[in-house]
Amino acid sequence: PPPERFRTPLPIPPVARPVKVTADADHYLVTQRVANVELIPGIKTPIWGYDGVFPGPTFRGRRGRRMVVTVRNELPVPTSTHLHGGVTPAESDGFPTDLILPAGYSPAPPGHHSASGKHHDTTRDYTYPMTQRAATLWYHDHRMDFTGPQVWRGLAGMFLVTDEVEDALPLPRDDRDLPLMICDRSFAADGSLKYPQRDMTHPGADGLFHAGIFGDVVLVNGAPWPRAEVPAVRHRLRLVNGSNARRYRLSFSAGTITQIGSDAGLLTTPLPREDVLLAPGERCDVIADFTGLPAGTEVTVTNTLGEGPTGDVMRFVITGPAADTSSVPSRLSSVETIDRSRAVTERQFDFRFGQGRWTINNQPYDPAASLCAPRLGTVELWRFTSDFHHPVHVHMAHFQVLSRGASGPDPADAGWKDTVDVRPYETVQVLVDFTGHRGRYMLHCHNLEHEDMAMMANFDIV
Ligand code: C2O
Ligand code: CU
Repeated sequence: PPPERFRTPLPIPPVARPVKVTADADHYLVTQRVANVELIPGIKTPIWGYDGVFPGPTFRGRRGRRMVVTVRNELPVPTSTHLHGGVTPAESDGFPTDLILPAGYSPAPPGHHSASGKHHDTTRDYTYPMTQRAATLWYHDHRMDFTGPQVWRGLAGMFLVTDEVEDALPLPRDDRDLPLMICDRSFAADGSLKYPQRDMTHPGADGLFHAGIFGDVVLVNGAPWPRAEVPAVRHRLRLVNGSNARRYRLSFSAGTITQIGSDAGLLTTPLPREDVLLAPGERCDVIADFTGLPAGTEVTVTNTLGEGPTGDVMRFVITGPAADTSSVPSRLSSVETIDRSRAVTERQFDFRFGQGRWTINNQPYDPAASLCAPRLGTVELWRFTSDFHHPVHVHMAHFQVLSRGASGPDPADAGWKDTVDVRPYETVQVLVDFTGHRGRYMLHCHNLEHEDMAMMANFDIV
């Protein structure tokens, strides 16, 4: 039977600690391994987890302080780790074919040889320069053709970047600053995670699963429909949609919600919200204000796009009043609005089903090909067109939404973004800022099954 809703306490993932601090970087080690964990109370579920937990440990990066994260693979399959929203050099970006091989894995059939021994490594160092502003990022597996099933099994975690601008603001902090990773999963009768598509040795999904894989249990930080007892004060909620394919429209039954940040950091000014629409891969940073709610009040977070059990997400239960020195300043940060006139080039990317696959500009993904070569330091106008719901994600370069359909951006499009929810038969125009690093990066649909069914493309920043 499905677990009872609003009973399991909300877990907070452990925070990753550096294993070594040197003059120029903080060094971390994370081991991907199989573990048996209690996601549903009283039931053991085998997962594939970073350090054997799901979500993985939360990394806290500091702007201006380099991080080196060594990922060791003790899983039975190859992996690749991508920091989503990271302004990361290409060799550390978690390219789908830059694999970390499992110990004992023999990658190449006889007669096939790889050019360099380095691809046989069972560990990989990812270097994150942390030159970017404070933001709620997340990291997850990105293995070619298998991202969907590998993330489903647990390979995802939060990554928070902090900086002085954010520190200077009187926002809620510590245990009133909650990372909330929302994702749906299904469970088999024995407690194991059930990825409905065949087994996990075939790439992608097909047949009935062209829309992606959906679960019937909503997990927040790995717990089914959890409950959090909190005082009647302001809380900062860092909402991450870590689902493979499910979109959410989150609504709170009491209190008020004010958005302060989006994918790539703080907004200029706070934005009161009725609800929060989140497509896979997107983040929304909000202040939930529970001030004045009487003890015992239940604040239920529902998903108005869901039905039955997927219409519920979690519940806050108010314990009573408490001191609160936090506030939401009317100015959060200075975000320059990019003017359309700065775009040096316009390009179109058409996300569409064709020839039995999910394609971009009629082409299924070819890891050796590149669609275009934007210049470092320039801005381009990219137009995304679509035949379905496709959350479009661009690696490395952040963007601002210029228009959606015939109108301007939606409220959900505010601020610096790295993922935008492109809806059926809609055209979304974004201004992409190629600041950061040269090299080969990608854009793709963040419906993970679409991604695994080849809806990805490379571009080279030159
Ligand atoms: Cu969150 Cu290319 O991915
Ligand atoms: Cu898609």
